[in-house]
Amino acid sequence: LDTANAQEVARLNAAMPVYGVTTNPSILAKEGKGLSIVLPEIKEVLGEQARFHVQVVSTTTEGMVEEAVQLSQLPYDIVVKVPTTVIGLAAIKQLKAKNISILATAIYSAQQGFMAALCGADYLAPYVNRIDVLGASSVNIVSDLQLLINQQNLDCKLLPASFKNTRQVMDILRLGVD
Ligand code: G3P
Repeated sequence: LDTANAQEVARLNAAMPVYGVTTNPSILAKEGKGLSIVLPEIKEVLGEQARFHVQVVSTTTEGMVEEAVQLSQLPYDIVVKVPTTVIGLAAIKQLKAKNISILATAIYSAQQGFMAALCGADYLAPYVNRIDVLGASSVNIVSDLQLLINQQNLDCKLLPASFKNTRQVMDILRLGVD
């Protein structure tokens, strides 16, 4: 689930398999709560299996690396989200060397995602709806990314994000992404 609202997590967890939640700075801001409140609230709902995706907010490589290290030391199963910019790619490279689990986020093209995978990202998050509203094809981009991962034998999985309707979800599932 892409939310920081523990009530929503509880409501949906009752009716479907939920393994974790992804957040980003705007999702946390909307909730008006910080990580120190949101993470325990949601872990209380999902239990020990809860996996969290939490994004860094620094705008420098050094800051992103420092933040990611701090996040990885919290007592939760956390995948650190890093924006896939040039600055972020440099952080991903360094974090890979530190064995920190990374999701490269805000991906709008196959080339951008491929670079993140080559730098060592564990997960790639192409922004399905945002790609489509910009006039490109999320289906083509996600399928190219899966092709590149397979062809290059990269240790990386797709975690497409920014879904706004069930047709987008089905279009992406139909591709057979990891
Ligand atoms: O959390 C990343 C992504 O799912 C957010 O997408 O388009 O709802 O801002 P969006």
